[in-house]
Amino acid sequence: MTGRPRVLVTRPLPAGTTDPLVAPDGPGPPCEIVQRTDDEPFEQAGLVAALGEGFDGVVCLLTERVDAAVLAAGKGRLRVVANVAVGFDNIDVDAATAAGVVVCNTPGILDETTADLAFLLVLAAARRTSEAEAALRAGRWTGFHIDEFLGRDVHGATLGLVGYGRIGRAVARRAQGFAMEVIHHTRTPTGEPGWVGDLHELLGRSDIVSLHVPLTPATRYLIGPAELATMKPTAVLVNTARGPIVDEEALAEALETGGIAAAGLDVFEAEPVVHPRLLAAPGAVLLPHIGSASVATRTAMARLASSSARAVLAGEIPRNALNPEAASSSLSRD
Ligand code: NAP
Ligand code: GLV
Repeated sequence: MTGRPRVLVTRPLPAGTTDPLVAPDGPGPPCEIVQRTDDEPFEQAGLVAALGEGFDGVVCLLTERVDAAVLAAGKGRLRVVANVAVGFDNIDVDAATAAGVVVCNTPGILDETTADLAFLLVLAAARRTSEAEAALRAGRWTGFHIDEFLGRDVHGATLGLVGYGRIGRAVARRAQGFAMEVIHHTRTPTGEPGWVGDLHELLGRSDIVSLHVPLTPATRYLIGPAELATMKPTAVLVNTARGPIVDEEALAEALETGGIAAAGLDVFEAEPVVHPRLLAAPGAVLLPHIGSASVATRTAMARLASSSARAVLAGEIPRNALNPEAASSSLSRD
């Protein structure tokens, strides 16, 4: 490659977080940044057209769908896509590998922040705090009543974690402080106390279920009518993973009919659209995908994506490369 690598940044990022792309001390030559100023998802047609103008790298958000058509528009010049997110279901990694494009994500640096929010949803859903605050703000609070807004105790409850990777484990650490019994389900036995190989068994034993699996073909609708029917009628479901892991129609039905007691959701099937039945469902606490949304964490994520893109363009393979094997075909173009 000759000249400065061109990097497309698909949406505005926190101040200073693209600095690693242009730092004079490397690695490799400073990049030319083309910064899109529109803070809306970059639709496929726009991304295809932009990549047709010739880019070596893309720094994008989870709102951008980087599929085979987008990668094809990179026309053999594109070498890296760095996602400002740990989840990478918005990127066709197999197509990227075939195209010699290295894909990077942001693992590890958002675990504690996301686990904080998952635990917030556990507490809020179990203790009905959104409902109680809404009543107060609407002037419907007439004073202390012995039987008003009664929720379920979180301390001492059984917490079932579906997915026990970085974030699931961070949630488990918080649960220890609440004297909870923690059990977990993964495909591969963890060899640790509390592993439950059968998802339905975990769902049936848990007072609170929190989802921490990636969105893959195997986890799409992992929680559907049969799984919800397995849960206790007093149970709480928390989803900070990805919306399509839960069948929202079935969840709304379960909340409406008392199949489960409450749900805390940070993610939705068709963001930013929220299923109208969930908006109206009793016991639903709904947040707009803010799991990693602290100033420090979002800043660290964007910086990591920028520095990862720069590293790949300089011929390095960062630890957070999801398909390092793509680098060999990418480098052979130089
Ligand atoms: P991770 O470290 O890769 O952990 C994933 C866990 O899921 C592993 O324990 C894995 O174990 C398990 N798993 C994968 N497929 C499974 C399946 N089919 N059935 C059961 N378990 C399965 O991931 P992480 O960093 O904790 O992140 C998890 C997800 O959280 C991300 O992918 C992202 O979508 C989401 N997230 C959301 C926010 C937010 O803002 N709301 C923030 C950060 C992350 P096995 O492979 O052994 O099954
Ligand atoms: C956020 O949802 C992420 O995957 O980082």
